[in-house]
Amino acid sequence: MQFLLLGLCVAVTAAQTLDCGRAFPQAGISRNYNETIAHAIHAMTVTGLKIFNPKATAVNYVPTVNQDLNQPETVLAHAPEVPLGNDFSTLTMNIVPIGRQWNVSLTCSICGTSVRESASPEVEKNPPSDDVCICLASTDVNGIKRAVGWVADHYKTGTPITLLNRPIPKLADAASWAVWKDRLLHYYTPEALRDAAMYLHCMSKFW
Ligand SMILES: *[C@@H]1O[C@H](CO)[C@@H](O)[C@H](O)[C@H]1NC(C)=O
Ligand SMILES: *[C@@H]1O[C@H](CO)[C@@H](O)[C@H](O)[C@H]1NC(C)=O
Repeated sequence: MQFLLLGLCVAVTAAQTLDCGRAFPQAGISRNYNETIAHAIHAMTVTGLKIFNPKATAVNYVPTVNQDLNQPETVLAHAPEVPLGNDFSTLTMNIVPIGRQWNVSLTCSICGTSVRESASPEVEKNPPSDDVCICLASTDVNGIKRAVGWVADHYKTGTPITLLNRPIPKLADAASWAVWKDRLLHYYTPEALRDAAMYLHCMSKFW
């Protein structure tokens, strides 16, 4: 673990000297990678990460939304261990902001399996360079962690002002959830899945 921590610290320092802004488009990572990757990983768990590398543990450096949004820290530094069994696609995030329970299980449908099945084979055939991986892994500086916080804020308030730059109704019932679902699915494009596959390919080297 000491070694892994050291590895990531070195990586973050290196990212500040690399030209990540240039490396990303050259590697085929999309312009709004911060948001596409944040959407893909925000509800990750260790079980989901094990799909990418069975060595994944609770120390994995994949920032996620704190499933208890009553805590002051809305973003966790690591995807948590959640005793869910193996069927990751049924992960449910139950968020209770003001005595009301929301079922947002769908947001996790791409967490592990879809990324792995759709985009990972291509990424593995043509993997990102070490420099690109260092840039992607440095979520404190590349904007991914901030974007996970932005996703957390959406859940916390139940009122994302815009998704895809369009207003969205307050998350309150099945009808408004249908609109959320539709908007969220727009993030699961081939480009977004590829961004997520690249990121998870890189992160899996640190586990
Ligand atoms: C809530 O999540 C559970 C478990 O994933 C699912 O079976 C159920 O259909 C969901 N309910 C709604 C209203 O989406
Ligand atoms: C993602 O990055 C873009 C470009 O830097 C920025 O305009 C946008 O605000 C970022 N999104 C979030 C949620 O941080």
